[in-house]
Amino acid sequence: MLLLGLALCTLLLLLRTLYRFFLSPLSSVPGPNLAKVSRLWKVGRALDGTIMSNLFDLHEKLGPLVRIGPNEVSVRSADDISLLYGFSTKFYKAGDYYDAWKPPIPVKHPGHFPTLDPAVHAKYRRPVAGVYAMRQVLASEEYVEGPVSDLLLLLDDAAEAGKPFDIGAAMHYFAYEVVFELAFGGSLGFLKKGEDIGLLIDSLHAVTKFGHVKGQLPSGCKQLLSTPAGRRFSRWVTKSVWGHKGDPNVIWETASQRVATRWQEREDGKPEGRKDFLSAFMEATDPDTGKRYSQFYVTLEAMDMLVGYYCKRTSSRPLSAHGEPASASTCPSRDLGDARRGSHHLPAFLCLSRQARVHPGLREGGPSAHHGDRRYTPSSGPPGDSLSPDGAVIAETFLPGGTIVGMSAFVTHTDFAAFGPTARQYKPERWLSVERGELEKKLLTFGAGTRVCIGKNVSLVEMAKLIPTIIHNYDLSFATTEKWRVWEGWFNGHSDFLVNLQRRDV
Ligand code: HEM
Repeated sequence: MLLLGLALCTLLLLLRTLYRFFLSPLSSVPGPNLAKVSRLWKVGRALDGTIMSNLFDLHEKLGPLVRIGPNEVSVRSADDISLLYGFSTKFYKAGDYYDAWKPPIPVKHPGHFPTLDPAVHAKYRRPVAGVYAMRQVLASEEYVEGPVSDLLLLLDDAAEAGKPFDIGAAMHYFAYEVVFELAFGGSLGFLKKGEDIGLLIDSLHAVTKFGHVKGQLPSGCKQLLSTPAGRRFSRWVTKSVWGHKGDPNVIWETASQRVATRWQEREDGKPEGRKDFLSAFMEATDPDTGKRYSQFYVTLEAMDMLVGYYCKRTSSRPLSAHGEPASASTCPSRDLGDARRGSHHLPAFLCLSRQARVHPGLREGGPSAHHGDRRYTPSSGPPGDSLSPDGAVIAETFLPGGTIVGMSAFVTHTDFAAFGPTARQYKPERWLSVERGELEKKLLTFGAGTRVCIGKNVSLVEMAKLIPTIIHNYDLSFATTEKWRVWEGWFNGHSDFLVNLQRRDV
């Protein structure tokens, strides 16, 4: 009986494999053979952190559409951005991926990020969107000054020590100092101590890497991984396979603690301190009930912010120019003096960026030794998974309803059709050209349309403030000829960005 059962299962699996390979409506879309029949191809790329380079190479070889799963297609052309992600798109976030980012316990509303239906997503995004508006970010300007000064002290020490310095790690500390200042009204001290306090950043690496793997798995596996045993297993993977020492629970605990303390203070009638993102989340109201959000929901939004900040690891990339870390001589900013003064005093940020004086590398990214000096655009890695209920014609091919489609920012940003013959060269001047407006429409760095990154203003302001400040004050050179290590996952992150720093006379 058992043997018969096994034989039947094997036969069914074989038939499914044959169907997926030969008869599926996607069988004409080229892709790796394993990807055509199983999710294992994507799971493997999530586990070894190579999804982006694989997508790049596959599109080079196979063209504008690549089948990367039995039911999944990666799309290259920037012409399809509005179809997939535009404000009136019929596509919505695919649960296959986004369900991995839901809280492990069932809740009425999982936070706006993993909400799939565009109308519901928009309804829940609206009340918190104001918190991230440029007006609100600029109102918090003075709280970014402390982290900037602390970072400069850290860099001064490194310059004085004359030893190779991991500027990527320092940028991460900076990002988290800023998020704690803006979100929770006080810093943690990463920069003052020059270390990853409580292994929070390491834990975020672990969580986002594992979440990206989880996103590739069928829903049954996702549910299993959300059980206490599954969470223990995920911790084992992040520790034993990837060597992360941090405890993923520390992120939820950190957000919960901060929210709980503030909640208690409000209940005790303690006079409100300075306005920060957390107080704004606590004042926002649920569009369904008109009442203030629950403590749990506010914690979810605070978590979104902490995880969103994870991708700030991309932000040190504009520090690299022409294969060398940026210096005043290689930086194409027109007026570094102004940029420095303006960047350190945020109100000037707006006029600086309007005059395009802020380092255009913020949009351009930099070349990466890891990718044979290809232009390395600051971007998230995998396709932003979308699903169309009705199907659509993309690159002259009909993809039936239910197909998961997505675009990788890196693939699209390096496409000659979108960015011309210099698409793969580091050419920040392109962002000073008259075509700049048109080029901006082809950028996917922060996603697009209704799903565009809600923290974009925070990031842009931070980078515009910090990067000119660094390159005005220091000359940087690579401290090693070793290639950068880049982990390609939900967001790409490099490590070992080791530089020598020299203080400039300014
Ligand atoms: C350089 C830095 C950043 C990059 C490259 C980036 C990129 C992105 C991208 C590509 C998306 C769209 C994801 C999708 O379609 O599924 C996104 C969404 C999001 N980001 Fe960012 N982000 C950055 C910084 C931030 C910051 C600083 C925050 C928080 C303060 C943040 C919070 C979020 C949130 C909450 C979403 C979900 C938005 C929604 O679904 O409505 N991000 N980000």
